[in-house]
Amino acid sequence: MVVSKAWTLRQHFQGFPKASDFHLREETLPQPKNGQVLLEAVFLSVDPYMRPYSQTMMKEGDVMIGSQVAKVIQSYNPSFPVGCHVVSDCGWRSHWVCDGAELTPVLPDWPQDIPLSLALGAIGMPGLTALYGLEEVCEIKKGETLLVNAAAGAVGSVVGQIAKIKGCRVVGCAGTDTKVSYLKELGFDQVFNYKTATSLEESLREAAPHGYDCYFENVGGKFSSVVMPQMREYGRIAVCGSISMYNDTTPQTGILSTPQTVILQHTVQHHTTDRYTVHTTDGYTVHTTDGYTVHTTDGYTVHTTDGYTVHTTDGYTVHTTDGYT
Ligand SMILES: NC(=O)c1ccc[n+]([C@@H]2O[C@H](COP(=O)([O-])OP(=O)(O)OC[C@H]3O[C@@H](n4cnc5c(N)ncnc54)[C@H](OP(=O)(O)O)[C@@H]3O)[C@@H](O)[C@H]2O)c1
Repeated sequence: MVVSKAWTLRQHFQGFPKASDFHLREETLPQPKNGQVLLEAVFLSVDPYMRPYSQTMMKEGDVMIGSQVAKVIQSYNPSFPVGCHVVSDCGWRSHWVCDGAELTPVLPDWPQDIPLSLALGAIGMPGLTALYGLEEVCEIKKGETLLVNAAAGAVGSVVGQIAKIKGCRVVGCAGTDTKVSYLKELGFDQVFNYKTATSLEESLREAAPHGYDCYFENVGGKFSSVVMPQMREYGRIAVCGSISMYNDTTPQTGILSTPQTVILQHTVQHHTTDRYTVHTTDGYTVHTTDGYTVHTTDGYTVHTTDGYTVHTTDGYTVHTTDGYT
């Protein structure tokens, strides 16, 4: 018998999540049967979507939703031998018994010098979100100008890198000068700190005087309403997230369409990765239809806090009592 540790949602979040909203409990797992495997967590992810999804998908007392990279430590399923690594959506728990139906194997030839945590970041769901937002929603083309906000995040940093590979001019916004320097290192053409900018409107205009063809939207709220008038004719907006609103206790309201957005015929499409999984048959290397691979050797950051690695979440930390995040 294995005793698993699981982080549960003690109470629904009100405003910004607090440590007291979580509760660590132990659960005794059944012995795996024929066809089943026993998983041990290696990396857990902490993603922004958990904040809004917890409200609709979870009851108080449930184990926190989330993906993890796990190692198979006992196996009665030949598809997942002992020692292999998988991505599982079993939430914030240290161990889990399952039949393998929901598991995605991490590529057996995963390069030694790339952390496995990237299967939850640049080479996983956030990377694919970036890719599909650019290719399927924006249908971005060489020579176009793209704006991405939360640009140093797991999604935004990949968005900018793919757009550069595709020959675009990339403008990014981030909330610290360290992130701004990081984005310049990644090859972004123009980057500014939106928190210290005197005027967001002016900074956006200076970065792209002729406006933006594509806008990869991660932030929502007031930020969007400043960007919209600077979109060019036939501009495309991939709405990936609205992180600035996730902790609001009073929902924001605002104007989505204006005469200008009609005249300039902007396309706005919201998207999630689920819609496009059909294209991800080769696991966690990000391939696209036009044949390039997103390499991540110099385009990611891994933060370590209290002995636990928090993958590319760009400063988001959950503290625990025993080192398990
Ligand atoms: N549609 C999908 O399938 C999908 C998949 C993954 C992610 N997403 C969405 O994509 C967005 C980015 O996710 P991620 O995984 O890249 O996040 P991340 O790595 O955790 O980065 C989040 C960053 O967002 C910025 N941010 C936080 N609060 C903000 C606020 N109030 N106003 C402006 N910026 C704020 C911060 O950067 P600064 O310091 O630069 O402000 C923060 O570090 C989120 O909205 C998320 O929900 C959607």
